[in-house]
Amino acid sequence: MKTSLFKKQALFLTLFLVTLSTSVLAQKQEVIRPGELWPDTDGNHIQAHGGGITKIKNTYYWYGESRAKDLDPQYRYVSCYSSKDLTNWKFNGNVLKMAAPDSLSSKWVLERPKVYFNLKTKKYVMYLHIDVNYKLANMGIAVSDSPTGPFRYVKRFRPLGFESRDIGQFIDDDGTAYIIFEDRPSGGFRIAKLSDDYMDVEKNMSLIKARIEGGAIVNYNGLYYCLGSGLTGWKPNPNKYATATSLEGPWTEFKDIAPVETKTYGSQSSMLIKVVGSKKTTVLFTGDIWKPDTQWDSRYLWMPLEIEEGKLWLPEPTPWKINVKTGETTILK
Ligand code: GAL
Repeated sequence: MKTSLFKKQALFLTLFLVTLSTSVLAQKQEVIRPGELWPDTDGNHIQAHGGGITKIKNTYYWYGESRAKDLDPQYRYVSCYSSKDLTNWKFNGNVLKMAAPDSLSSKWVLERPKVYFNLKTKKYVMYLHIDVNYKLANMGIAVSDSPTGPFRYVKRFRPLGFESRDIGQFIDDDGTAYIIFEDRPSGGFRIAKLSDDYMDVEKNMSLIKARIEGGAIVNYNGLYYCLGSGLTGWKPNPNKYATATSLEGPWTEFKDIAPVETKTYGSQSSMLIKVVGSKKTTVLFTGDIWKPDTQWDSRYLWMPLEIEEGKLWLPEPTPWKINVKTGETTILK
């Protein structure tokens, strides 16, 4: 009798603690903490690796690779989170659940999803890196009528006939949509313009002859800053940047974005986000801290960049806050 009463009490206590911890985690967050677990509004670590951010009106959508533990290994999943403050993210589900397309081997990979909203067609167009043993080097496209899916796979291809591995997204201030892709046989990475309906890659703008992937671009005060990582797989390396006054180049030499020995503080570039506020324009570095053996636990390194007059620098990661209305950030030491 006594034991079962004790068991019941223990069960209630456990349930109480679980509920308490979930509600504590689900509380509104004020601070972004690079490298730490980043709970969504349900209290679960955000699963949006190698991701991309798409802003629609005043909502940011974060798409990425879900590498959650409990996924069905037959499929690959792209998750979608939404936020108005870039800090608190609501999980909108896995918006693309995809089986191996065509007759690809079950070992296929789907990486680095990026979503573009096409104003003319009103479609959300998702670009993907689709590969098998990193030899296929294909881009893929999936489409949806809503930012929160479901997305439908359409096709895979080699853009402009070139190999394409890591992809990056860039939308210029005039609204023109570009994709960055690593083209290994040509010895660099390309910046290319999308077609009017975003369903194809239309025009090569630049081939930057540098062994760079995880490519990202921002247009800041009329200068293009392009950055990326070295080709060391999941292992971090010193990420680098170059600048140009036109997407067609010429591009400067690549320089380090952080002290070389930190290997970009253990992260790899994913995207640059420009937040244009009422008081300030802030550029955010968003990167992945990969954990190849425990991929669901991979973390994020998001930090405001120091950027001006052709110089770009990633400060040492520390907790920070952003006010997306004013564009101001506060670094908390
Ligand atoms: C990285 C790349 C990732 C993934 C990984 C696999 O260099 O950026 O997206 O492809 O290699 O080793």
